[in-house]
Amino acid sequence: MNLLTFRTEEDLNRAGAGLIASLLQTNPRAVLGLATGSTPIGIYEELVKLYQGGSVSFARARSYNLDEYVGLSGSHPASYRCFMNTHLFDQVDIDPANTHVPNGLAVDLEQECAYYDAMIEDEGIDLQLLGLGHNGHIGFNEPDDSLIAGTHAATLQHRTREANARFFDSIRDVPKQAITMGVAPIMKARQVMLVIRGESKAEIAKQALTGPITTKCPASLLQLHPNLVVLMDEAAGAWAK
Ligand code: GLP
Repeated sequence: MNLLTFRTEEDLNRAGAGLIASLLQTNPRAVLGLATGSTPIGIYEELVKLYQGGSVSFARARSYNLDEYVGLSGSHPASYRCFMNTHLFDQVDIDPANTHVPNGLAVDLEQECAYYDAMIEDEGIDLQLLGLGHNGHIGFNEPDDSLIAGTHAATLQHRTREANARFFDSIRDVPKQAITMGVAPIMKARQVMLVIRGESKAEIAKQALTGPITTKCPASLLQLHPNLVVLMDEAAGAWAK
């Protein structure tokens, strides 16, 4: 595990974007596993700047997002499809047909999850970007007695719905379920980049990265990944010094 802490948000964003850009420079057809939430926004902003400056192209890249709310269409402002279009896809030269976000409106959720897994299995993710939930979740793999390996429809914990209520008019509007990649596709990614920001994540970051490996803290499984890089700001990573 490569643990990096950054003095400023700008340094962290540049390092994160730099990792993705250098992957695309060496492998323009790279498959990116992408994440939503507030954590990766600064990294996407930096990537857009690199694209505008001509130092990176997404023209042949493909992407798979971690998750999507069940019941939201891609045009809903709080949907992860809309988030990705706004923060990255619409601002770079990626072919929209090469961007994948689970279909939250799928009639048959099981079939949608199996289809998503089959595409990922076929392509193989080169770099998976991840944020961290306050309860240790990754994607929407919530702490539990056991975890599900493949992509599945997950029931969101109240705390997770509370944390994500800021993207909706009220907590009542936050869907109760989401489709999420399971831990298997995440662990199979060739490289994982976990990004953690803010003092409120310091304790769970320490627990996930130095505590016991347990399904009660899904991010702790990342300790087993052979190529994990963790980017933290000083507030989240003070314990790592
Ligand atoms: C959501 C997403 C996760 C994300 C987490 C943290 O639950 N499904 O992928 O990592 O929120 O969000 P934030 O980065 O806003 O703290």
